Amino acid sequence: MSESTPSQELVSIALDERSYDIHIGRGLLQQAATWAGLPKAKTAVIVTNDTIAPLYEAALRLAIGAHYPQIHSVVLPDGEAHKDWQTLNLIFDALLGHGCDRKTVLFALGGGVVGDMTGFAAASYMRGVPFVQVPTTLLAQVDSSVGGKTAINHPLGKNMIGAFYQPCRVVCDLATLKTLPEREMSAGLAEVIKYGPIADMDFLAWIEAHIGDLVGQEPQALAHAVKRSCQIKAGVVGQDEREAGLRAILNFGHTFGHAIEAGLGFGVWLHGEAVGCGMLMAAELSHRLGKVDAAFVARLKALLLRAGLPVRGPVIDAQDNAGHYMAHMRLDKKSVGGDIQFVLIDGPGRAVVCGAPDALVRDVINACCA
Ligand code: NAD
Ligand code: GLY
Repeated sequence: MSESTPSQELVSIALDERSYDIHIGRGLLQQAATWAGLPKAKTAVIVTNDTIAPLYEAALRLAIGAHYPQIHSVVLPDGEAHKDWQTLNLIFDALLGHGCDRKTVLFALGGGVVGDMTGFAAASYMRGVPFVQVPTTLLAQVDSSVGGKTAINHPLGKNMIGAFYQPCRVVCDLATLKTLPEREMSAGLAEVIKYGPIADMDFLAWIEAHIGDLVGQEPQALAHAVKRSCQIKAGVVGQDEREAGLRAILNFGHTFGHAIEAGLGFGVWLHGEAVGCGMLMAAELSHRLGKVDAAFVARLKALLLRAGLPVRGPVIDAQDNAGHYMAHMRLDKKSVGGDIQFVLIDGPGRAVVCGAPDALVRDVINACCA
């Protein structure tokens, strides 16, 4: 971590020639230092959605105007339900319609949905153009904008079509979070909390001590949470960019969570809500396998509740709810030959990826769903 200006901190992500900085601070959209040194091009394209465009598109356009003579915008429909081929194609239509070349720089202005789709468009347009992440949700600032996972959903599974493709910069302007709905703040806190059990129990204790401040967006607490989350993620991704092993720990809660999202239909539960509840189910499974004690599970549950997150999984199928969850989980990207792999807590602050007996997983789902 180094200071670049009094109000701007940098977390570096070390990936050889694909290395980049995550800029964290308040009011970064308006600071000239934020935008210095980006790839030069005649054209930039801001990809955003119809909720965020009226809030922040003009500010971004003004900020990057000094660097790019032509700036176009693509405004996508808002929502996880639109993270699909049809919406992705709107980006390609605009890029081709405006005659964008290989040097064109894309700017993803929005949450994880806009970021994941813009990244995938950048990875595939003319086989790759540079892109900048400008995340405007807490979830995107602490997780999705960092590390180069890009994707769209398929009706049969979450984030199934995508690519690893790193941005050339991430700009986390904490001031943009002031317009974020409370429910979205809570969803982002799920991904902040995630970093504790898998990597840093001191950070978990810090979150517990400051959860009220985080829910209320107290500036210093928020800045620390974003910075520490990005540091942990940058450390993991720096060791395992393409998830050959270690990076899978960042999917704590996601195996159950993705089943909730796909099972209910994308967008019914927010991604962070599904991940939060999924973390509790994974913690319960870890407990039943003798890896953590009941107090650990209770501690996680109490924190999720204080963050405003649901702690009971939804019933997706009244006839065979566990079977429904398991059918979705078998399609998870971590599954091997149809065997579900879980990220479990192998002692506080330590995660492991492993399988579990189907009967035990069924018991956990039945115990954890409303
Ligand atoms: P999102 O992108 O849907 O944004 C949430 C909502 O907040 C949207 O309605 C959005 O328009 C609105 N919004 C965004 N910024 C706002 C602001 N500043 N003020 C007011 N409203 C604002 O959801 P998300 O939680 O940011 O991201 C979830 C997505 O991220 C999922 O698709 C998930 O799969 C993906 N994800 C990807 C990774 C990765 O590593 N690539 C990691 C985690 C999650
Ligand atoms: N969000 C999980 C990852 O980036 O690997």
